[in-house]
Amino acid sequence: MRTQVGIVGAGPAGLLLSHLLHLRGIESVVLERRGREYVENRVRAGVLEQGTTDTLVEAAVGDRLLREGLRHQGIELRYGGAGHRIAFEKLVPGRAITVYGQQEVVKDLIAARLADGGDLRFEVDDVALHALDTDRPYLTFGDERLDCDFVAGCDGFHGVSRPTIPEGVLTEYEREYPFAWLGILARVKPSAEELIYARTDRGFALHSMRSPEISRFYLQVAAGEDVANWPDDRIWAELKARLETVPGFELATGEIFDKAVTPMRSFVAEPMRYGRLYLAGDSAHIVPPTGAKGLNLAVADVRLLTKALARWYGDGSADLLDDYSRACLKRVWRAQHFSWWMTTLLHTFESDDPYGHRLQLSYLDYVTSSDAAAATLAENYVGLPYGSME
Ligand code: FAD
Ligand code: DHB
Repeated sequence: MRTQVGIVGAGPAGLLLSHLLHLRGIESVVLERRGREYVENRVRAGVLEQGTTDTLVEAAVGDRLLREGLRHQGIELRYGGAGHRIAFEKLVPGRAITVYGQQEVVKDLIAARLADGGDLRFEVDDVALHALDTDRPYLTFGDERLDCDFVAGCDGFHGVSRPTIPEGVLTEYEREYPFAWLGILARVKPSAEELIYARTDRGFALHSMRSPEISRFYLQVAAGEDVANWPDDRIWAELKARLETVPGFELATGEIFDKAVTPMRSFVAEPMRYGRLYLAGDSAHIVPPTGAKGLNLAVADVRLLTKALARWYGDGSADLLDDYSRACLKRVWRAQHFSWWMTTLLHTFESDDPYGHRLQLSYLDYVTSSDAAAATLAENYVGLPYGSME
């Protein structure tokens, strides 16, 4: 079997790449280890940057997103007994975020690929990458072989693509955090119109949402925490303790129907390329979720990779392919810093001495009282425009 671009992984990166390539007349095959139902129901991120929404709408996979997504023009930072709104409409006019579940993006992309006759293979669990340093790379799975011009490693942090790169090629940068997030979905109307990022002495809490009927919450918990330690009553009690900290705010509760612990890690592998293999999304970099950047970075990578491949297929020029890693890493490192900074600002660290705590509060006071500081947060949060970072 032969295709132009062999794509490993049907997460947002692999699916969007396949779709964008199709729009440019470039063929691909997507190989995914999990079943379709599994990837369509995997609960993860929910905040789309302005550029991510624009990308999906321009690629004609944004109809449902525009109908059902919740456009937000601000977020609240809550600490010290008060809430402070970061007003995007004032600080970054015309740019906003859209709250729309990652698995809905995945469903929309799968539907579009299948409607266009795309070749998506699910439950392929033994993908291997070969001859990446030649101009005839290929993938094997089961007793099949897929010859291609290029391989896109879109198989996430635990995938097979990055580990296939020979030792000594990549430089890896990593930071682990001494806590994790317990995330839940609950059948209850959100208790606020916009997201609330709350810093308390008990730890961080985030109030998010998915629809007018479904709320999404996260709690800072110990690294490696077992969800079994968190029966529903304990979750609601802790969410109330961390969110009901301003006068008049009452948290509505409801049935919890999804519960999972997400580890927190910062990670970058450089360069994002080896021979004819190009890494995109979580296979090359991970951020802690506080800045809501993971999914958005995957989209930014894939836009650049599409452009670079279209140039190569168009006039044979490899200039954009050669520049791919450098161009991606500019935005990746900006998001690394922003995500680390948001995480540091809002979580409690056991190692913190009173001095560290005071620094945290000082920065929170600054960011909620100075337009210059708030604009820094706002422009990173809604996403820096494409082109400004490459
Ligand atoms: P993935 O979505 O990881 O997709 C990779 C795909 O490759 C998967 O479908 C996987 O099954 C497949 N795959 C893996 N190995 C193989 C193989 N050997 N062969 C074939 N296929 C393979 N970000 C936020 O902003 N907010 C959040 O709340 C948030 N929560 C998260 C929770 C978890 C548990 C995780 C892991 C990530 C979370 N993220 C969050 C990050 C965000 O979801 C990711 O950045 C985003 O999914 C990246 O997309 P991707 O396509 O690069 O990778
Ligand atoms: C959500 C996830 C995030 O990581 C974040 O910073 C904000 C919202 C969410 O899943 O809704």
